[in-house]
Amino acid sequence: MADASNTIYVLNGPNLNLLGLREPEIYGSTTLDEIADMLEDRARELGFAIDVRQTNHEGMLVDWLHEAQAEGVRAVLLNAAAYTHTSIALLDAIKAIATPVVEVHLSDPKTREAFRHISYVGMAAAKTVEGHGADSYRIALEAIASGEV
Ligand code: DQA
Repeated sequence: MADASNTIYVLNGPNLNLLGLREPEIYGSTTLDEIADMLEDRARELGFAIDVRQTNHEGMLVDWLHEAQAEGVRAVLLNAAAYTHTSIALLDAIKAIATPVVEVHLSDPKTREAFRHISYVGMAAAKTVEGHGADSYRIALEAIASGEV
């Protein structure tokens, strides 16, 4: 049975509910539910439980980061989507909690439009995994399981 210390929150921001349909040439054809299933299997193999959530609202991501700390979970995987590039509130929230946060992106924002080159999330995240499509989530999970994060 999972307790908080081996639970990982997987928090997803705006428009990621449309994965699979949304710009598949950039983000691939895998849906968020499929990513969640794949991650759940891998997490179980590694002795972890995951809690996958998605919201289109910035403040909800802030609340969930606070909850991660309050619940004492092991770590957070955070794909803040477009809020990555705009949200000082998320930067502050990550700095406000002791829970390690791994920044995740399907695409590699650094190779895209200039407005995606700044990452407020990345300024406080323990690690960033980007550019591997849906596999970015798995790689981030494995970094936590290996103790790297
Ligand atoms: C994204 C990259 C962001 O720039 C973009 O706004 C997203 C998705 C990614 O996973 O590649 O919505 O976070």
